[in-house]
Amino acid sequence: LTSLRYPNLKRSGYSALTDKDLSVFEKLIPGRVLTGSSELDGYNTDWLKTCRGSSQVVLRPKTTEEVSAILKYCNERKLAVVPQGGNTGLVGGSVPVFDEIVISTQLMNQIISLDEISGTLVCEAGCILGNLSDHVAESGLIMPLDLGAKGSCHIGGNLATNAGGLRLLRYGSLHGSVLGLEAVLASGEVVDCLSTLRKDNTGYDVKQLFIGSEGTLGLITKASILCPQKPNAVNVAFLGCDSFERVLDIFKESKMKLGEILSAFEFLDADAIAVARDNLKLSIPIDDTFPFYVLIESSGSDGAHDEEKMNRFLEDMMNRGYVIDGTVASEPAKIQYIWSVRERIAEGLMHDGYCYKYDVSLPLSHYYGLVEAVRKRTQGNTTRVIGYGHVGDSNLHLNATSPEYSQTTMDLLEPFLYDWVAKHRGSVSAEHGLGFKKRDFIYHSKSESAVRIMNQMKQVLDPNGILNPYKLLPTVIR
Ligand code: FAD
Ligand code: MLT
Ligand code: ZN
Repeated sequence: LTSLRYPNLKRSGYSALTDKDLSVFEKLIPGRVLTGSSELDGYNTDWLKTCRGSSQVVLRPKTTEEVSAILKYCNERKLAVVPQGGNTGLVGGSVPVFDEIVISTQLMNQIISLDEISGTLVCEAGCILGNLSDHVAESGLIMPLDLGAKGSCHIGGNLATNAGGLRLLRYGSLHGSVLGLEAVLASGEVVDCLSTLRKDNTGYDVKQLFIGSEGTLGLITKASILCPQKPNAVNVAFLGCDSFERVLDIFKESKMKLGEILSAFEFLDADAIAVARDNLKLSIPIDDTFPFYVLIESSGSDGAHDEEKMNRFLEDMMNRGYVIDGTVASEPAKIQYIWSVRERIAEGLMHDGYCYKYDVSLPLSHYYGLVEAVRKRTQGNTTRVIGYGHVGDSNLHLNATSPEYSQTTMDLLEPFLYDWVAKHRGSVSAEHGLGFKKRDFIYHSKSESAVRIMNQMKQVLDPNGILNPYKLLPTVIR
Protein backbone atom coordinates (compact mmCIF):
# COMPACT_ATOMS: atom_id res chain seq x y z
CA LEU A 1 0.00 0.00 0.00
CA THR A 2 1.37 3.37 -1.01
CA SER A 3 0.66 6.13 1.45
CA LEU A 4 0.54 9.83 0.76
CA ARG A 5 3.52 11.59 2.24
CA TYR A 6 2.72 14.47 4.56
CA PRO A 7 5.91 15.29 6.36
CA ASN A 8 4.87 18.86 7.08
CA LEU A 9 1.57 18.06 8.73
CA LYS A 10 1.35 17.82 12.51
CA ARG A 11 -1.45 16.20 14.47
CA SER A 12 -3.52 19.03 16.04
CA GLY A 13 -3.98 19.09 19.80
CA TYR A 14 -6.92 16.69 20.07
CA SER A 15 -7.21 14.31 23.00
CA ALA A 16 -6.06 10.73 22.59
CA LEU A 17 -8.55 7.89 22.90
CA THR A 18 -8.61 6.15 26.30
CA ASP A 19 -10.17 2.95 27.65
CA LYS A 20 -12.65 5.11 29.49
CA ASP A 21 -13.76 6.66 26.17
CA LEU A 22 -14.26 3.19 24.75
CA SER A 23 -16.43 2.16 27.68
CA VAL A 24 -18.54 5.31 27.29
CA PHE A 25 -19.03 4.50 23.59
CA GLU A 26 -19.90 0.91 24.46
CA LYS A 27 -22.64 2.22 26.77
CA LEU A 28 -23.97 4.60 24.11
CA ILE A 29 -24.05 2.03 21.29
CA PRO A 30 -23.65 -1.45 22.80
CA GLY A 31 -22.03 -4.00 20.49
CA ARG A 32 -21.40 -1.45 17.76
CA VAL A 33 -17.95 -0.24 18.77
CA LEU A 34 -15.31 -1.78 16.51
CA THR A 35 -11.69 -2.07 17.62
CA GLY A 36 -8.92 -4.37 16.49
CA SER A 37 -6.65 -3.48 13.61
CA SER A 38 -7.73 -6.09 11.05
CA GLU A 39 -11.40 -5.10 11.43
CA LEU A 40 -10.47 -1.43 11.11
CA ASP A 41 -8.27 -1.75 8.05
CA GLY A 42 -11.02 -1.09 5.51
CA TYR A 43 -12.22 1.98 7.43
CA ASN A 44 -8.69 3.40 7.64
CA THR A 45 -7.88 3.03 3.93
CA ASP A 46 -9.48 4.95 1.07
CA TRP A 47 -10.86 3.48 -2.18
CA LEU A 48 -7.83 4.59 -4.20
CA LYS A 49 -5.49 3.03 -1.61
CA THR A 50 -3.54 6.27 -1.45
CA CYS A 51 -4.53 7.53 2.01
CA ARG A 52 -4.29 5.59 5.22
CA GLY A 53 -5.16 6.62 8.75
CA SER A 54 -4.60 4.86 12.04
CA SER A 55 -7.92 5.13 13.83
CA GLN A 56 -8.29 2.82 16.81
CA VAL A 57 -12.07 2.75 16.81
CA VAL A 58 -15.09 2.76 14.50
CA LEU A 59 -18.50 3.71 15.89
CA ARG A 60 -21.64 2.47 14.14
CA PRO A 61 -24.69 4.37 15.43
CA LYS A 62 -28.20 3.45 14.30
CA THR A 63 -30.12 6.61 15.17
CA THR A 64 -29.80 10.40 15.12
CA GLU A 65 -29.98 10.38 18.93
CA GLU A 66 -26.98 8.05 19.10
CA VAL A 67 -25.01 10.27 16.68
CA SER A 68 -25.92 13.25 18.83
CA ALA A 69 -24.77 11.59 22.06
CA ILE A 70 -21.49 10.46 20.44
CA LEU A 71 -20.68 13.90 19.04
CA LYS A 72 -21.61 15.68 22.26
CA TYR A 73 -19.19 13.44 24.15
CA CYS A 74 -16.40 13.77 21.54
CA ASN A 75 -16.80 17.54 21.50
CA GLU A 76 -16.53 17.79 25.28
CA ARG A 77 -13.51 15.48 25.28
CA LYS A 78 -11.98 17.17 22.18
CA LEU A 79 -11.76 13.90 20.32
CA ALA A 80 -11.57 14.34 16.53
CA VAL A 81 -13.93 12.34 14.30
CA VAL A 82 -14.32 11.50 10.63
CA PRO A 83 -17.81 10.77 9.24
CA GLN A 84 -17.73 7.87 6.81
CA GLY A 85 -20.35 6.54 4.39
CA GLY A 86 -19.47 4.02 1.70
CA ASN A 87 -15.80 5.11 1.70
CA THR A 88 -15.78 5.57 -2.09
CA GLY A 89 -14.60 9.19 -1.93
CA LEU A 90 -11.69 9.98 -4.24
CA VAL A 91 -9.92 12.83 -2.39
CA GLY A 92 -8.94 11.18 0.87
CA GLY A 93 -11.78 12.86 2.78
CA SER A 94 -13.45 9.77 4.20
CA VAL A 95 -10.56 8.23 6.14
CA PRO A 96 -8.68 9.49 9.18
CA VAL A 97 -5.39 11.30 8.64
CA PHE A 98 -4.07 10.42 12.09
CA ASP A 99 -6.16 8.66 14.78
CA GLU A 100 -9.55 10.37 14.30
CA ILE A 101 -12.53 8.27 15.39
CA VAL A 102 -14.51 6.91 12.44
CA ILE A 103 -18.29 7.38 12.70
CA SER A 104 -19.78 5.11 10.07
CA THR A 105 -23.36 5.48 8.74
CA GLN A 106 -23.46 1.80 7.71
CA LEU A 107 -26.28 0.93 10.13
CA MET A 108 -28.37 4.03 9.42
CA ASN A 109 -29.95 2.48 6.36
CA GLN A 110 -33.72 2.75 6.75
CA ILE A 111 -36.02 4.14 4.07
CA ILE A 112 -38.50 6.33 5.93
CA SER A 113 -41.11 7.20 3.28
CA LEU A 114 -41.76 7.60 -0.41
CA ASP A 115 -44.52 9.84 -1.70
CA GLU A 116 -45.28 8.43 -5.13
CA ILE A 117 -47.24 11.47 -6.26
CA SER A 118 -44.70 14.18 -5.50
CA GLY A 119 -41.75 11.77 -5.90
CA THR A 120 -40.31 12.67 -2.48
CA LEU A 121 -38.09 10.07 -0.83
CA VAL A 122 -37.11 10.41 2.83
CA CYS A 123 -34.37 8.11 4.08
CA GLU A 124 -31.48 7.71 6.48
CA ALA A 125 -28.00 8.80 5.45
CA GLY A 126 -26.51 5.31 5.29
CA CYS A 127 -28.79 4.00 2.54
CA ILE A 128 -26.76 2.75 -0.41
CA LEU A 129 -27.53 4.73 -3.57
CA GLY A 130 -28.14 1.57 -5.67
CA ASN A 131 -30.62 0.25 -3.08
CA LEU A 132 -32.49 3.55 -3.16
CA SER A 133 -32.59 3.37 -6.97
CA ASP A 134 -34.09 -0.13 -6.82
CA HIS A 135 -36.60 0.95 -4.19
CA VAL A 136 -37.90 4.02 -6.01
CA ALA A 137 -37.97 2.13 -9.35
CA GLU A 138 -40.82 -0.01 -7.92
CA SER A 139 -42.86 3.19 -7.85
CA GLY A 140 -41.85 4.27 -11.34
CA LEU A 141 -39.24 6.77 -10.13
CA ILE A 142 -35.46 7.18 -10.39
CA MET A 143 -32.87 8.79 -8.16
CA PRO A 144 -31.80 12.19 -9.52
CA LEU A 145 -28.16 11.06 -9.43
CA ASP A 146 -26.27 8.03 -10.69
CA LEU A 147 -22.59 7.15 -10.43
CA GLY A 148 -20.24 4.24 -10.90
CA ALA A 149 -19.94 3.80 -7.12
CA LYS A 150 -23.72 3.30 -6.68
CA GLY A 151 -23.24 -0.22 -5.30
CA SER A 152 -21.40 1.09 -2.23
CA CYS A 153 -21.72 4.87 -1.79
CA HIS A 154 -24.23 6.14 0.77
CA ILE A 155 -26.72 8.90 0.10
CA GLY A 156 -25.27 10.82 3.08
CA GLY A 157 -21.83 10.63 1.45
CA ASN A 158 -23.36 11.77 -1.83
CA LEU A 159 -24.83 14.83 -0.14
CA ALA A 160 -21.67 15.52 1.84
CA THR A 161 -19.63 15.58 -1.39
CA ASN A 162 -22.39 17.10 -3.53
CA ALA A 163 -21.75 14.23 -5.94
CA GLY A 164 -22.38 15.00 -9.60
CA GLY A 165 -22.27 11.88 -11.74
CA LEU A 166 -23.88 10.73 -14.94
CA ARG A 167 -27.31 12.37 -14.73
CA LEU A 168 -26.40 15.90 -13.67
CA LEU A 169 -26.77 17.19 -17.23
CA ARG A 170 -30.48 16.37 -17.09
CA TYR A 171 -31.51 16.57 -13.43
CA GLY A 172 -29.11 19.18 -12.07
CA SER A 173 -27.04 19.10 -8.88
CA LEU A 174 -28.08 17.93 -5.42
CA HIS A 175 -28.38 21.58 -4.41
CA GLY A 176 -31.59 21.46 -6.45
CA SER A 177 -32.94 17.97 -5.86
CA VAL A 178 -32.35 17.72 -2.10
CA LEU A 179 -35.48 19.11 -0.47
CA GLY A 180 -34.33 18.70 3.09
CA LEU A 181 -31.89 17.10 5.45
CA GLU A 182 -31.17 16.48 9.08
CA ALA A 183 -27.65 16.90 10.44
CA VAL A 184 -25.95 16.73 13.81
CA LEU A 185 -23.49 19.46 14.75
CA ALA A 186 -20.24 18.86 16.62
CA SER A 187 -21.99 19.96 19.84
CA GLY A 188 -24.56 17.20 19.43
CA GLU A 189 -27.31 19.65 18.46
CA VAL A 190 -29.67 18.21 15.85
CA VAL A 191 -30.39 20.58 12.96
CA ASP A 192 -33.81 19.68 11.59
CA CYS A 193 -34.12 20.92 8.00
CA LEU A 194 -35.89 17.78 6.85
CA SER A 195 -38.45 19.63 4.74
CA THR A 196 -40.23 17.82 1.92
CA LEU A 197 -41.38 21.01 0.26
CA ARG A 198 -40.36 22.09 -3.21
CA LYS A 199 -40.69 25.76 -2.38
CA ASP A 200 -39.80 27.25 1.00
CA ASN A 201 -38.29 30.74 1.03
CA THR A 202 -38.44 31.25 4.77
CA GLY A 203 -35.02 32.69 5.48
CA TYR A 204 -31.57 31.34 4.67
CA ASP A 205 -31.52 27.86 3.13
CA VAL A 206 -29.48 26.24 5.92
CA LYS A 207 -29.50 22.73 4.43
CA GLN A 208 -27.37 23.94 1.52
CA LEU A 209 -24.45 24.49 3.92
CA PHE A 210 -24.17 20.79 4.53
CA ILE A 211 -24.37 19.78 0.86
CA GLY A 212 -20.75 19.61 -0.28
CA SER A 213 -19.33 20.30 3.21
CA GLU A 214 -17.48 16.94 3.23
CA GLY A 215 -18.22 16.12 6.84
CA THR A 216 -16.61 19.31 8.19
CA LEU A 217 -19.76 21.13 9.39
CA GLY A 218 -22.04 18.37 10.63
CA LEU A 219 -22.91 14.72 10.23
CA ILE A 220 -25.86 14.27 7.89
CA THR A 221 -28.31 11.74 9.33
CA LYS A 222 -31.40 11.96 7.08
CA ALA A 223 -32.31 13.38 3.69
CA SER A 224 -35.38 14.08 1.62
CA ILE A 225 -34.87 13.93 -2.11
CA LEU A 226 -37.01 14.75 -5.11
CA CYS A 227 -37.04 11.74 -7.44
CA PRO A 228 -37.85 12.24 -11.12
CA GLN A 229 -40.25 10.01 -13.07
CA LYS A 230 -38.59 6.92 -14.55
CA PRO A 231 -38.41 7.50 -18.32
CA ASN A 232 -40.35 4.96 -20.44
CA ALA A 233 -37.86 5.03 -23.25
CA VAL A 234 -34.07 5.09 -23.03
CA ASN A 235 -31.63 4.97 -25.94
CA VAL A 236 -27.87 4.93 -25.69
CA ALA A 237 -25.54 5.72 -28.59
CA PHE A 238 -21.82 4.89 -28.50
CA LEU A 239 -19.95 6.75 -31.20
CA GLY A 240 -16.41 7.05 -32.55
CA CYS A 241 -15.01 10.28 -33.97
CA ASP A 242 -11.67 11.54 -35.17
CA SER A 243 -10.97 14.69 -33.13
CA PHE A 244 -11.97 16.43 -29.92
CA GLU A 245 -13.43 19.29 -31.98
CA ARG A 246 -15.87 16.73 -33.39
CA VAL A 247 -16.85 15.70 -29.83
CA LEU A 248 -17.83 19.32 -29.22
CA ASP A 249 -19.65 19.59 -32.55
CA ILE A 250 -21.66 16.48 -31.66
CA PHE A 251 -22.46 17.92 -28.22
CA LYS A 252 -23.75 21.17 -29.69
CA GLU A 253 -25.84 19.32 -32.27
CA SER A 254 -27.19 16.86 -29.70
CA LYS A 255 -28.52 19.71 -27.57
CA MET A 256 -30.22 21.14 -30.62
CA LYS A 257 -31.52 17.93 -32.20
CA LEU A 258 -32.32 15.78 -29.17
CA GLY A 259 -33.46 18.73 -27.07
CA GLU A 260 -35.49 17.73 -24.06
CA ILE A 261 -34.70 13.98 -24.34
CA LEU A 262 -30.91 14.37 -24.03
CA SER A 263 -30.03 12.87 -20.61
CA ALA A 264 -26.26 12.23 -20.66
CA PHE A 265 -23.27 13.23 -22.75
CA GLU A 266 -20.01 11.54 -21.78
CA PHE A 267 -16.67 11.13 -23.57
CA LEU A 268 -13.64 8.84 -23.44
CA ASP A 269 -10.35 9.18 -25.28
CA ALA A 270 -8.46 6.28 -26.89
CA ASP A 271 -6.29 5.76 -23.81
CA ALA A 272 -9.40 5.47 -21.61
CA ILE A 273 -10.83 2.92 -24.04
CA ALA A 274 -7.57 0.98 -23.74
CA VAL A 275 -8.14 0.77 -19.96
CA ALA A 276 -11.56 -0.82 -20.53
CA ARG A 277 -10.23 -3.17 -23.19
CA ASP A 278 -6.85 -4.18 -21.74
CA ASN A 279 -7.31 -3.86 -17.97
CA LEU A 280 -10.97 -4.84 -17.64
CA LYS A 281 -11.12 -7.12 -20.71
CA LEU A 282 -14.31 -5.45 -21.86
CA SER A 283 -15.10 -5.70 -25.53
CA ILE A 284 -15.55 -2.23 -27.01
CA PRO A 285 -18.97 -1.94 -28.70
CA ILE A 286 -17.47 -0.44 -31.88
CA ASP A 287 -14.05 -0.42 -33.54
CA ASP A 288 -11.41 0.37 -30.89
CA THR A 289 -9.10 2.51 -33.02
CA PHE A 290 -10.77 5.93 -32.82
CA PRO A 291 -9.05 8.76 -30.94
CA PHE A 292 -12.34 9.79 -29.25
CA TYR A 293 -15.59 8.17 -28.18
CA VAL A 294 -18.88 9.69 -27.13
CA LEU A 295 -21.70 8.14 -25.12
CA ILE A 296 -25.06 9.85 -25.57
CA GLU A 297 -28.17 8.84 -23.65
CA SER A 298 -31.69 9.96 -24.43
CA SER A 299 -34.57 9.46 -21.98
CA GLY A 300 -38.15 10.27 -22.74
CA SER A 301 -41.75 9.16 -22.57
CA ASP A 302 -42.42 7.93 -26.10
CA GLY A 303 -40.22 5.09 -27.40
CA ALA A 304 -41.08 5.41 -31.09
CA HIS A 305 -40.73 9.18 -31.11
CA ASP A 306 -37.43 9.14 -29.17
CA GLU A 307 -35.91 6.39 -31.31
CA GLU A 308 -36.85 8.22 -34.49
CA LYS A 309 -35.34 11.43 -33.13
CA MET A 310 -32.12 9.67 -32.10
CA ASN A 311 -31.81 7.87 -35.44
CA ARG A 312 -32.36 11.07 -37.41
CA PHE A 313 -29.74 12.83 -35.32
CA LEU A 314 -27.20 10.02 -35.78
CA GLU A 315 -27.82 9.83 -39.51
CA ASP A 316 -27.16 13.55 -39.77
CA MET A 317 -23.96 13.24 -37.70
CA MET A 318 -22.70 10.40 -39.94
CA ASN A 319 -23.60 12.26 -43.15
CA ARG A 320 -21.70 15.29 -41.97
CA GLY A 321 -18.69 13.17 -41.04
CA TYR A 322 -18.83 14.14 -37.36
CA VAL A 323 -19.37 10.51 -36.38
CA ILE A 324 -17.32 7.84 -38.17
CA ASP A 325 -18.88 4.75 -36.60
CA GLY A 326 -21.46 4.06 -33.92
CA THR A 327 -23.97 1.76 -32.35
CA VAL A 328 -27.26 2.52 -30.66
CA ALA A 329 -29.07 0.42 -28.06
CA SER A 330 -32.55 0.44 -26.61
CA GLU A 331 -32.52 -2.98 -24.88
CA PRO A 332 -31.68 -2.70 -21.16
CA ALA A 333 -28.89 -5.32 -21.22
CA LYS A 334 -27.03 -3.63 -24.08
CA ILE A 335 -27.57 -0.20 -22.57
CA GLN A 336 -26.11 -1.42 -19.28
CA TYR A 337 -23.14 -2.95 -21.04
CA ILE A 338 -22.32 0.24 -22.92
CA TRP A 339 -22.63 2.24 -19.70
CA SER A 340 -20.29 -0.19 -17.93
CA VAL A 341 -17.50 0.60 -20.41
CA ARG A 342 -17.70 4.21 -19.25
CA GLU A 343 -18.51 3.69 -15.55
CA ARG A 344 -15.75 1.17 -14.87
CA ILE A 345 -12.81 3.28 -16.04
CA ALA A 346 -11.98 4.31 -12.44
CA GLU A 347 -11.81 0.62 -11.47
CA GLY A 348 -9.77 -0.29 -14.56
CA LEU A 349 -7.14 2.35 -13.81
CA MET A 350 -6.37 0.68 -10.49
CA HIS A 351 -4.97 -2.33 -12.40
CA ASP A 352 -2.01 -0.15 -13.46
CA GLY A 353 -0.82 0.29 -9.86
CA TYR A 354 -0.93 3.88 -8.63
CA CYS A 355 -3.53 6.36 -9.94
CA TYR A 356 -3.02 10.15 -9.88
CA LYS A 357 -6.65 11.28 -10.08
CA TYR A 358 -7.82 14.72 -11.18
CA ASP A 359 -11.34 16.00 -11.59
CA VAL A 360 -11.55 19.49 -13.03
CA SER A 361 -14.00 21.85 -14.70
CA LEU A 362 -12.73 23.73 -17.73
CA PRO A 363 -14.29 25.90 -20.40
CA LEU A 364 -14.89 23.53 -23.33
CA SER A 365 -12.50 25.49 -25.56
CA HIS A 366 -9.62 24.44 -23.26
CA TYR A 367 -11.03 21.14 -22.05
CA TYR A 368 -8.84 18.59 -23.83
CA GLY A 369 -5.83 20.91 -23.99
CA LEU A 370 -5.04 19.96 -20.41
CA VAL A 371 -4.77 16.25 -21.24
CA GLU A 372 -2.39 17.05 -24.10
CA ALA A 373 -0.28 19.35 -21.92
CA VAL A 374 -0.02 16.80 -19.08
CA ARG A 375 0.76 13.96 -21.46
CA LYS A 376 3.60 15.95 -22.98
CA ARG A 377 4.97 17.00 -19.61
CA THR A 378 4.93 13.56 -17.98
CA GLN A 379 6.05 11.53 -21.00
CA GLY A 380 8.27 8.66 -19.89
CA ASN A 381 7.13 9.01 -16.26
CA THR A 382 3.67 7.48 -16.51
CA THR A 383 2.08 4.29 -17.76
CA ARG A 384 -0.69 6.39 -19.33
CA VAL A 385 -2.48 9.72 -19.12
CA ILE A 386 -6.16 9.49 -19.97
CA GLY A 387 -9.10 11.84 -20.37
CA TYR A 388 -12.77 10.94 -19.91
CA GLY A 389 -15.79 12.28 -18.12
CA HIS A 390 -18.86 14.40 -18.07
CA VAL A 391 -18.03 16.60 -21.04
CA GLY A 392 -21.67 17.70 -21.15
CA ASP A 393 -21.04 19.42 -17.79
CA SER A 394 -17.55 20.72 -18.81
CA ASN A 395 -16.15 18.24 -16.23
CA LEU A 396 -12.93 16.45 -17.21
CA HIS A 397 -11.50 13.42 -15.43
CA LEU A 398 -7.78 13.42 -16.09
CA ASN A 399 -5.96 10.42 -14.68
CA ALA A 400 -2.35 9.35 -14.88
CA THR A 401 -1.00 6.01 -13.71
CA SER A 402 2.34 4.44 -12.87
CA PRO A 403 3.25 1.05 -11.39
CA GLU A 404 3.78 2.68 -8.00
CA TYR A 405 3.76 6.14 -6.43
CA SER A 406 6.57 8.32 -7.75
CA GLN A 407 7.42 11.68 -6.22
CA THR A 408 9.04 12.71 -9.53
CA THR A 409 5.79 12.12 -11.38
CA MET A 410 3.82 13.90 -8.67
CA ASP A 411 6.13 16.91 -8.92
CA LEU A 412 5.57 17.00 -12.68
CA LEU A 413 1.80 16.92 -12.18
CA GLU A 414 1.38 19.32 -9.28
CA PRO A 415 1.16 22.27 -9.09
CA PHE A 416 1.51 22.43 -12.92
CA LEU A 417 -1.92 20.94 -13.55
CA TYR A 418 -3.71 23.13 -11.01
CA ASP A 419 -1.94 26.26 -12.28
CA TRP A 420 -3.03 25.37 -15.82
CA VAL A 421 -6.64 24.96 -14.65
CA ALA A 422 -6.61 28.28 -12.78
CA LYS A 423 -5.04 30.08 -15.76
CA HIS A 424 -7.88 28.83 -17.95
CA ARG A 425 -10.50 29.82 -15.39
CA GLY A 426 -11.49 26.30 -14.44
CA SER A 427 -12.12 24.59 -11.09
CA VAL A 428 -9.61 22.27 -9.41
CA SER A 429 -12.47 20.11 -8.16
CA ALA A 430 -15.56 19.74 -10.29
CA GLU A 431 -17.38 17.02 -8.35
CA HIS A 432 -15.14 14.98 -6.03
CA GLY A 433 -14.50 17.73 -3.46
CA LEU A 434 -11.24 18.82 -1.84
CA GLY A 435 -10.93 16.32 1.01
CA PHE A 436 -7.40 15.83 2.27
CA LYS A 437 -5.59 15.81 -1.05
CA LYS A 438 -6.70 19.04 -2.66
CA ARG A 439 -7.47 21.39 0.21
CA ASP A 440 -4.33 23.47 -0.24
CA PHE A 441 -5.27 24.17 -3.87
CA ILE A 442 -8.55 25.82 -2.85
CA TYR A 443 -7.16 29.29 -3.69
CA HIS A 444 -6.71 28.20 -7.30
CA SER A 445 -10.51 28.24 -7.58
CA LYS A 446 -11.84 30.34 -4.71
CA SER A 447 -11.09 33.90 -3.61
CA GLU A 448 -9.52 34.68 -0.25
CA SER A 449 -12.73 36.34 0.88
CA ALA A 450 -14.77 33.23 0.01
CA VAL A 451 -12.36 30.97 1.93
CA ARG A 452 -12.48 33.33 4.92
CA ILE A 453 -16.28 33.00 5.01
CA MET A 454 -15.94 29.22 4.84
CA ASN A 455 -13.56 29.35 7.79
CA GLN A 456 -15.97 31.56 9.74
CA MET A 457 -18.78 29.09 9.08
CA LYS A 458 -16.55 26.32 10.40
CA GLN A 459 -15.83 28.33 13.58
CA VAL A 460 -19.55 28.85 14.21
CA LEU A 461 -20.66 25.28 13.61
CA ASP A 462 -17.63 23.39 14.92
CA PRO A 463 -15.63 25.71 17.22
CA ASN A 464 -13.37 22.91 18.50
CA GLY A 465 -12.67 21.69 14.97
CA ILE A 466 -13.44 18.06 15.82
CA LEU A 467 -15.32 17.30 12.58
CA ASN A 468 -13.10 15.87 9.85
CA PRO A 469 -9.95 17.89 10.61
CA TYR A 470 -7.25 18.39 7.93
CA LYS A 471 -9.96 18.29 5.23
CA LEU A 472 -11.49 20.82 2.82
CA LEU A 473 -10.16 24.01 4.48
CA PRO A 474 -6.54 24.88 3.62
CA THR A 475 -3.65 24.58 6.09
CA VAL A 476 -3.28 28.37 6.08
CA ILE A 477 -6.24 30.78 5.92
CA ARG A 478 -5.07 33.93 4.10
P1 FAD B 1 -17.42 8.59 1.74
O1 FAD B 1 -16.37 8.26 0.76
O2 FAD B 1 -17.58 7.69 2.88
O3 FAD B 1 -17.17 10.08 2.28
C1 FAD B 1 -16.94 11.15 1.41
C2 FAD B 1 -16.90 12.45 2.22
O4 FAD B 1 -18.17 12.72 2.79
C3 FAD B 1 -15.94 12.42 3.39
O5 FAD B 1 -15.41 13.70 3.56
C4 FAD B 1 -16.81 12.05 4.57
O6 FAD B 1 -16.30 12.52 5.80
C5 FAD B 1 -18.10 12.73 4.22
N1 FAD B 1 -19.31 12.03 4.67
C6 FAD B 1 -19.72 10.79 4.38
N2 FAD B 1 -20.92 10.54 4.94
C7 FAD B 1 -21.26 11.65 5.62
C8 FAD B 1 -22.39 12.03 6.40
N3 FAD B 1 -23.42 11.20 6.60
N4 FAD B 1 -22.41 13.27 6.93
C9 FAD B 1 -21.40 14.13 6.74
N5 FAD B 1 -20.31 13.83 6.02
C10 FAD B 1 -20.24 12.60 5.46
N6 FAD B 1 -18.28 11.22 -7.50
C11 FAD B 1 -18.99 12.05 -8.30
O7 FAD B 1 -19.27 13.19 -7.91
N7 FAD B 1 -19.41 11.66 -9.54
C12 FAD B 1 -19.14 10.44 -10.04
O8 FAD B 1 -19.50 10.13 -11.16
C13 FAD B 1 -18.41 9.53 -9.21
N8 FAD B 1 -18.15 8.29 -9.64
C14 FAD B 1 -17.41 7.45 -8.87
C15 FAD B 1 -17.13 6.17 -9.34
C16 FAD B 1 -16.36 5.31 -8.58
C17 FAD B 1 -16.06 3.93 -9.11
C18 FAD B 1 -15.86 5.72 -7.32
C19 FAD B 1 -15.05 4.80 -6.48
C20 FAD B 1 -16.15 6.98 -6.84
C21 FAD B 1 -16.92 7.87 -7.61
N9 FAD B 1 -17.23 9.15 -7.16
C22 FAD B 1 -17.97 9.99 -7.94
C23 FAD B 1 -16.73 9.60 -5.84
C24 FAD B 1 -17.62 9.12 -4.67
O9 FAD B 1 -18.33 8.00 -4.99
C25 FAD B 1 -18.58 10.16 -4.27
O10 FAD B 1 -17.86 11.23 -3.74
C26 FAD B 1 -19.64 9.70 -3.25
O11 FAD B 1 -20.59 10.72 -3.18
C27 FAD B 1 -19.08 9.40 -1.88
O12 FAD B 1 -20.05 8.72 -1.10
P2 FAD B 1 -19.61 7.76 0.10
O13 FAD B 1 -20.83 7.35 0.85
O14 FAD B 1 -18.74 6.69 -0.38
O15 FAD B 1 -18.81 8.80 1.00
C1 MLT C 1 -16.42 8.95 -12.95
O1 MLT C 1 -17.09 9.82 -13.52
O2 MLT C 1 -16.14 7.88 -13.49
C2 MLT C 1 -16.03 9.20 -11.54
O3 MLT C 1 -16.11 10.52 -11.15
C3 MLT C 1 -14.81 8.48 -11.09
C4 MLT C 1 -13.52 8.99 -11.65
O4 MLT C 1 -13.35 10.19 -11.79
O5 MLT C 1 -12.63 8.20 -11.91
ZN1 ZN D 1 -17.28 11.66 -12.55
